[in-house]
Amino acid sequence: SAQRTDIATAVAQPNIALIKYWGKKDERLFLPRTDSLSMTLDIFPTTTRVRLAPGAGQDRVTFNGEPATGDAERRITAFLQLVRERSGRGERARVDTENTVPTGAGLASSASGFAALAVAAAAAYGLGLDARGLSRLARRGSGSASRSIFDGFAVWHAGHTGGTPEEADLSSYAEPVPAVDLDPALVVAVVSSAPKEVSSREAMRRTMDTSPLYEPWAVSSRADLTDMRAALGRGDLPAVGEIAERNALGMHATMLAARPAVRYLSPASLGVLDSVLQLRREGVPAYATMDAGPNVKVLCPRPDAERVAEALRAVAPVGSVHIAGPGRGARLVAGEC
Ligand code: PMV
Repeated sequence: SAQRTDIATAVAQPNIALIKYWGKKDERLFLPRTDSLSMTLDIFPTTTRVRLAPGAGQDRVTFNGEPATGDAERRITAFLQLVRERSGRGERARVDTENTVPTGAGLASSASGFAALAVAAAAAYGLGLDARGLSRLARRGSGSASRSIFDGFAVWHAGHTGGTPEEADLSSYAEPVPAVDLDPALVVAVVSSAPKEVSSREAMRRTMDTSPLYEPWAVSSRADLTDMRAALGRGDLPAVGEIAERNALGMHATMLAARPAVRYLSPASLGVLDSVLQLRREGVPAYATMDAGPNVKVLCPRPDAERVAEALRAVAPVGSVHIAGPGRGARLVAGEC
């Protein structure tokens, strides 16, 4: 049942997809073309407070104390508008976000950002949503945010577009995936924290519209997901890594074949990929995945994480290296931020 609170603070962490989300079959509803699967991290939390502001003429949004502008502000205001429509409450809001992840560098700050915003806004406006409802709501801010609602491994269902928009909206949400005895680490090599030149939204659209490799990747991604679920179910980390790496390289191949091409990987990214190959030659089961930016995330057994981090630090242009484990999903926290 909906409860009025008027003010709420939530924390969320980014997730990294092992089976990628790339391409929307419905842009307005954020319905993806394919299912995806991710691990929520235990680093880079985003903390967001939403406070209703009766009488205010517009939403006011800050990031790390600075007023939000441009596209970021528009996306948050549009998201709050959706929450207002669902709640039947018209008050504008004050939204303050503290982000610890470098924004716009393919480190999924939009995932932690919209997961935290969804949880805080749903509570402040009294929507009374369960985890699945929160996942569906977060999806409308940024697709990947649907997965950061959950701890550890989560699968996001693409849903179906056959019926009404309401039915389609109900059918696409994330949920936890069972995984046994993995003890994984994800070593994040930050190659650049500069904002990306092509947004993931634009890059997805261009890839779907023009890349001859897109459909074959979407088809093979379905098989990758089946294999991934099986590998997680038997706790086979090298298989998880191998499937994740091929799925990510395939996604980047679709972009390279787009017209004009979208290339997020830099020479430094390829340097990291080389050192991952070298680690494997030395017997360390390390596997790479890359998103809409040049940074590389390397999956490996937790006991190997320090050795992997060391190897990645030795790649000349790598800025910083962070070791993450599986983390908690988005949640409300007490008090003010
Ligand atoms: O952050 P979004 O929702 O615009 O999507 C980005 C998608 C990738 O990070 C490249 C892949 C994924 O599944 O997270």
